[in-house]
Amino acid sequence: MKVLIVGSGGREHAIAYAVAKSSRVDKIYCAPGNAGIEEYAECVNIGAMELEKLADFAKEKEIDLTIIGMDDPLVAGVVDVFEAKGLRVFGPRKNAAILEGSKAFSKDLMKKYNIPTAAYETFSDAEEAKKYLETSDYPIVLKADGLALGKGVLICNTKEEAMEGVKTLMLDKQFGSAGDKIVIEEFLTGREVSVLCYCDGTHIAPMTSAQDHKRAKDGDKGLNTGGMGTFSPSPFYTKEVDEFCKKYVYQPSMDAMKAEGRDFTGIMFIGLILTEKGPRVLEYNARFGDPEAQVVLPRMKNDIIDVMEACIDGKLDTINLEFEDNAAVCVVLASDGYPLAYEKEKLITGLENFKDKDDYYVFHAGTKKTAEGIVTNGGRVLGVTAKGATLKEARANAYEATKWVDFENKYMRNDIGKAIDEA
Ligand code: AMP
Ligand code: GLY
Repeated sequence: MKVLIVGSGGREHAIAYAVAKSSRVDKIYCAPGNAGIEEYAECVNIGAMELEKLADFAKEKEIDLTIIGMDDPLVAGVVDVFEAKGLRVFGPRKNAAILEGSKAFSKDLMKKYNIPTAAYETFSDAEEAKKYLETSDYPIVLKADGLALGKGVLICNTKEEAMEGVKTLMLDKQFGSAGDKIVIEEFLTGREVSVLCYCDGTHIAPMTSAQDHKRAKDGDKGLNTGGMGTFSPSPFYTKEVDEFCKKYVYQPSMDAMKAEGRDFTGIMFIGLILTEKGPRVLEYNARFGDPEAQVVLPRMKNDIIDVMEACIDGKLDTINLEFEDNAAVCVVLASDGYPLAYEKEKLITGLENFKDKDDYYVFHAGTKKTAEGIVTNGGRVLGVTAKGATLKEARANAYEATKWVDFENKYMRNDIGKAIDEA
């Protein structure tokens, strides 16, 4: 069969790797893709937000399955556009992708259906928000309602910071219309865990757990980024946590969406925080995490096409998800300066060192092929993933492998997976 993947990051490279492993797939396309994805796929120059063009391409090439990697096209309704043309596509429709597209929607849903989350209020008026902040407890969390590349969340330690935050989001509109509405919520403390779940509209199947490192600098300092590294599984995701989430989070989230007439098909990414009072949902996303996908997919034993088709056909209950009994760690190699300004077009050397090494992967994020070779083309450049029998072994392997590649201004965190030592 023929598969089209939509996106251009490390996540889409990890998806392409999983799709290429399927014995059912003869041909892979990726739009727009990157230099690493070219190893598995023919990259086509159509942007992820060119919804009609993407669907026309899929129709013309008789694509059997399209996989949407990114959030923006999902929230914009790419799945509806494909379905209207009779095309098979993996991802939630627009009316379900709102789970990621609007934080106010997801908070209201959790409140209505008693899914455990932080207490909150929603505001469309900056003055009302400021009035509320006069009498709040600190720290407190401000969230832009809409998509903001994972950067629309402000943790405010003081009233002054929070007032400034309201200005940034609602008046200065740093994230555009994403800040027309904001959610102000209770600050929670605990370990964070990401659980990505396959969904078929009725059934939900959680994958193995993972933990991201969102801040740019060691010790969780610096600015929020898309994610600087991950490990899987999380040693803090215990049997008790799993049982709690199965009872109070996963199926209840699916049922809630169904009850609202918004059947959710695709990947429901549930961001959890493990508080003293138990797990709480921090956020939902409507797609694979990046770089969570780079540690979860290499450990998945199932044929990804079988699983995705079962999701589309409402037959996820016939699939038994299986993961290898090992661990994986991904360290992101970024361009120094990310998530702010950084330089591009730096030659990347050493990529060939990953060839024929079974438990090592170099997933491309911001890369580009030129006449001189493959060069950097983004903030997050590569995701170096390694497996190991244990988390510690996987971490040592991943850091060893970060030495195999080089480019000018290469930057990484040196403490990805440090939490493992505290487990
Ligand atoms: P979100 O995009 O909602 O996951 O938020 C991004 C990051 O902000 C999360 O991964 C947490 O580290 C942090 N965060 C979000 N909400 C809260 C909260 N209520 N309490 C503490 N930290 C939070
Ligand atoms: N790594 C977090 C995300 O993909 O949203």
